[in-house]
Amino acid sequence: MGEFTKSLSLCALLLLTLRIAQHHRRLTAHNPLELWATHNVRVALAENGGASIRCNATVLEGQHQWVEVTWSGLGTGSYDDYIALFPAAGDPLITAPIKYHWAARSPSHLILGTGSVTFRLLNMRQDMRFALVRSGLQFPVVVAWSGVVTVAEPNQPMQGHLSLTGKPGEVKVQWVTRDAGSPAVRWGTRSGAHEWSAAGDSLTYTRADMCGAPANASGWVDPGWLHGAVMAGLQPSTTYFYQYGDEELGWSGEESFVSPPATGPGASVRLLAVADLGQAEVDGSMESSEMLPSLATTAALAAEVQAGAQLLVHNGDISYARGFGSQWDTYFDQLGPTVRRVPYMTTVGNHERDWPHSGDRFPAQYDSGGECGVPYYRRTRMPTPAEDKPWYSFDFGPIHFCQFSTEHLFEPGSEQHRFIERDLAAVDRSVTPWVVVGGHRPIYIDSTFYGLMPDGDQYVAKKLRDSLEDLLYRYQVDATWTGHHHSYQRTCAVYRGRCLGANADGTARAPLHLVIGHAGAGLTPNIHFFRPRIFDTVRLQHGYVVVEANATHMSHRVLASYDGSLLDEFTLTKPAGWRSQPRDVPRATAGGGGSPGEGARRGGAFAAA
Ligand SMILES: *[C@@H]1O[C@H](CO)[C@@H](O)[C@H](O)[C@H]1NC(C)=O
Ligand SMILES: *[C@@H]1O[C@H](CO)[C@@H](O)[C@H](O)[C@H]1NC(C)=O
Ligand SMILES: *[C@@H]1O[C@H](CO)[C@@H](O)[C@H](O)[C@H]1NC(C)=O
Ligand SMILES: [Fe+2]
Repeated sequence: MGEFTKSLSLCALLLLTLRIAQHHRRLTAHNPLELWATHNVRVALAENGGASIRCNATVLEGQHQWVEVTWSGLGTGSYDDYIALFPAAGDPLITAPIKYHWAARSPSHLILGTGSVTFRLLNMRQDMRFALVRSGLQFPVVVAWSGVVTVAEPNQPMQGHLSLTGKPGEVKVQWVTRDAGSPAVRWGTRSGAHEWSAAGDSLTYTRADMCGAPANASGWVDPGWLHGAVMAGLQPSTTYFYQYGDEELGWSGEESFVSPPATGPGASVRLLAVADLGQAEVDGSMESSEMLPSLATTAALAAEVQAGAQLLVHNGDISYARGFGSQWDTYFDQLGPTVRRVPYMTTVGNHERDWPHSGDRFPAQYDSGGECGVPYYRRTRMPTPAEDKPWYSFDFGPIHFCQFSTEHLFEPGSEQHRFIERDLAAVDRSVTPWVVVGGHRPIYIDSTFYGLMPDGDQYVAKKLRDSLEDLLYRYQVDATWTGHHHSYQRTCAVYRGRCLGANADGTARAPLHLVIGHAGAGLTPNIHFFRPRIFDTVRLQHGYVVVEANATHMSHRVLASYDGSLLDEFTLTKPAGWRSQPRDVPRATAGGGGSPGEGARRGGAFAAA
């Protein structure tokens, strides 16, 4: 009996621990909307007779508009009261808000139960209304509704952004409207004179295309139609003016971009690179979003583009919508001023793709919030062989980019591995002397996330090295750009865990690995107390990378998003006319390809600096 009681209390303790862990998990959301518990929502308008809420606008004109929302009649206010924006047709027992402001932001709220806040309303193609809600996000009680704010132009082209198709002289524009229509793009070399035009095509996705909740449940928002149209026959390095839209449904305003430079060693390019960016609200709502720094980064990126940057590369963890569809709208609205002027090339991250039993390589990760890649693929169409085969390559001036997915099988024998090998083997280094491989999860990483968890940083990095490092070395890849760990990290020229330094001609003897996951999401503090020796620099500060390259120099400046200060600076060089000779790959030796941590523990090549 003693034994039985003991096991029973052990069981109870275990259950309690699990409960607390679960609770904790719920309260540490990337996005506060993840806390909105639809099953606990009550609509109790009668219980709060007298409470009312109103918005100073009844119509949302154009793309976005600031509105003021006022409320009164609550008696006394409380800290867990808030003002939430909903799709007008959305039932709060089914649908999460688009965003919310805590009512106590308004000084009169706690004492008088009245107040006002301002929101920036974005055209999301459907009418909206506000709710006055009590009792926090986990047990919400809706006590009053505002009138409906009608969206005047649901077919105004929104979320415009550019990308490369992988073919010279082509730039694609993508945008969103409510209805399908007949999408097209028109462009020319003089403002207002668009002498060429091309018809586009349209995609969408439905709730049934999502793999699970919240994407198919509380986060579901009708995405409208996602259009794409290609401007072809572009002259290199030429300014073009363009509009996208529809003869009947209407056109966007005029935008401009500078077409990509001619591929080859004669070009000089300036480009930007980020990973793990995310989005946040400029009206101060959703104040507990961990992505607030993304606002500073996107503002800095827009300024860089204004100053002449020609391309933005973003390697995974794009919007962090994670199943809350309205956040894709917010994301492309935020990044619009940048990506309507330069092509935007992405790779898929865990927060776009991962979902159990959906074909990615991580069996138990729920990181995409049920999206399982579909919104990402259809909103950022890259020149990939198929929708869920998100690997591709493209050239930009003197650089060849090989972009792959760390969320799909990359092991030898996989289709993706064959692609990477073929792609790297085929690069003509007399045309593109530089080769950069991009993906989401790092190949070398300063992280204390060890263990055999299938998504553990060091575990995945080791898998990536086992699968790809010999290829990167053999084909003289210059650098890899990854993210996932929300920090900035740069290795030495490293191969099989050893810093190899430079050749007599100044070229690095092995690839450098950059982790650039510091763009906008909350920083990941779990770096080693003593920096592993193969890392030259590790920084925990938000920022982005500016690269300038010609045939002989590839310089990098890593800038802080908030104050523009220099976080890192380095330049790779090659002699003019450099030709690659694939390197011999030594036979694997015992201990080769070990993780930085193993090295550190053994006091070997990775002994703490
Ligand atoms: C509503 O309030 C916002 C924010 O204060 C203001 O910018 C806007 O002009 C107001 N709209 C109307 C119709 O008064
Ligand atoms: C969402 O997807 C899950 C998993 O496929 C399914 O069980 C659930 O019924 C779906 N919910 C809705 C509202 O379609
Ligand atoms: C390439 O860039 C480097 C560094 O900016 C510069 O010194 C060099 O002159 C450039 N080479 C050519 C051919 O423009
Ligand atoms: Fe991330």
